[in-house]
Amino acid sequence: MAEKDSKKRWEPIYRSAPPGWATHPRKRMLMTPMLIFFGGIFAFAVPTIVAAFFQMAFFSPPVSDNWAPYGEQAARGREIYLANGCVYCHSGFTRPQDVRHGLYYTYPRISLPGDYATSDEAPNLWGTARIGPDLSQEGGFHPSDWQRAHFSDPRFTTPNSIMPRFNFLSDDEFEALTAFVQQRGGKAALVRYAGQQVAKDGMLAAMGMPAPPAKSEAEAMTLAEVARGVKMGGFMQMNMGMDMGGGMEGGEEEHQSILHPHDEYMLNFVDRTYWVMSNPLPVTDYNLLRGRMIFQERCIGCHGVGGAGVSLATRFLRPVPFDFTTQEAAQSVFTSEGSWYYKVLRGVRGTAMENFGSRLRVDDIWRVVMFLKTIPNGGLVAGSVPTIDQYYQWTPPPELLQYMKQNPVEKAFDFTTEDTADEPFLLEAHRIMNGMAPGYSFHIPGFGDVSLERFAQLIEEEYNRLLEEGWDAFIARDGHPIPPASQMEIPPELSKELR
Ligand code: HEC
Ligand code: HEC
Repeated sequence: MAEKDSKKRWEPIYRSAPPGWATHPRKRMLMTPMLIFFGGIFAFAVPTIVAAFFQMAFFSPPVSDNWAPYGEQAARGREIYLANGCVYCHSGFTRPQDVRHGLYYTYPRISLPGDYATSDEAPNLWGTARIGPDLSQEGGFHPSDWQRAHFSDPRFTTPNSIMPRFNFLSDDEFEALTAFVQQRGGKAALVRYAGQQVAKDGMLAAMGMPAPPAKSEAEAMTLAEVARGVKMGGFMQMNMGMDMGGGMEGGEEEHQSILHPHDEYMLNFVDRTYWVMSNPLPVTDYNLLRGRMIFQERCIGCHGVGGAGVSLATRFLRPVPFDFTTQEAAQSVFTSEGSWYYKVLRGVRGTAMENFGSRLRVDDIWRVVMFLKTIPNGGLVAGSVPTIDQYYQWTPPPELLQYMKQNPVEKAFDFTTEDTADEPFLLEAHRIMNGMAPGYSFHIPGFGDVSLERFAQLIEEEYNRLLEEGWDAFIARDGHPIPPASQMEIPPELSKELR
């Protein structure tokens, strides 16, 4: 009896409703054709209006401080970038978590809405996939010769790369695409790009090879010529040449340094604390073998299967990749394992030498550097494994120790003071020449003085040139809306952590 009562109490009440309308879910399906039709339209329309039309109508943030217009070539390069589907593998924005993850790589800064303002960034290149690294800040992370080699065939520089070749592009298109990639990332990118060029000029002069990098395959040296160039432009030869030149340059008395300018230049790329540092890992079969494996996975594209710096990439690269096969390479002023560690970690500005800081583990960098010291004794010979007795123990050359006494560590750059902390060009100069301190300089024949101040000035000049060229081109191609002229005066800001 009680059961019947409760059943009754819960029985649904059927109200009258217009024909075609459901009165209760259990009685008839709620999804009537009418509801599906109008509901469907509604469901698609709302996100479309909010996410697309609202943005198109109302998204016009003021340009960010970092925004910079593209030069004429770069703007053309952007079209080539779109036409070749680069956007399907490379995104164009960085989030906070990317920045922490890839500090040494191409993620130095979090994207802001104002970075995507004006017609220069339309249509946007955000992309959705990161099959390759994000390129929103790519400018200046590599010199242009690296970009050229990499576009021709990514395997030339990155043996395991899955990026397709773009060697069907014409020289003209390569140049435009490179200009675009180098200017991506606004003002901060222009500073880095300028830094690459200054560093390259200095490096080529220091090596006694002031020739500009080959732009086209046709103009490039043949492989055999490059091989000869490696030997001739190598630093041992330069050292000999300089010993002779030292006597001839009687007029340069003020240059007191005991080091050859080339060696001094190479050394000062590296933070002083690494100059005489030895490998913290023990020399073991495992460490050497692991080091060789990494070398073959990552480095042979440029340094060559034999480690002599002769590879398919070589013809594009100036300076050419380092030759590890000689005893002199293993034992010179600037080739301690600490210095090498530092160069692999952060790369060498102005050269194709990349930074591997966020792609290799710290201990793996130490291992590959250890392995490099076996190459002169046959550590890279095919069909064998590197052995402990092939390892060459670097010892600090006496002239290096003397040089360090003359230039103590305390003189190194202090970036914590107020007046140095906000100088973007000085910061970039110091990023290139990390071993140098303000007020310190040396001379490179054919280039002039190398000092942080002069580098900062050269970088600033090049930066201003690029920025002005960009603005002129922006106006010429009817870029809109035109940001206030004062935007141009806002100094670039570089990520200090990357220092
Ligand atoms: C199939 C996917 C794919 C396509 C398409 C593609 N890339 Fe890549 N790209 C990659 C991958 C993967 C890497 C990382 C490995 C390497 O360096 O080659 C990369 C690396 C790069 C880098 C180097 C980034 C750095 O600093 O290390 C640049 C620059 C680049 N790509 C530009 C382009 C351009 C320009 C295009 C179009 C012409 C393009 N990519 C098309 C996958 C792709
Ligand atoms: C894209 C080409 C490229 C790749 C890839 C590359 N290098 Fe280099 N590397 C160069 C060039 C060019 C130089 C010449 C600059 C110099 O001598 O400092 C160089 C220089 C170096 C130096 C400094 C030599 C010295 O004392 O001046 C070391 C160490 C080095 N590479 C190690 C490596 C290791 C280890 C790898 C792989 C993890 C690697 N490189 C990958 C191009 C490359």
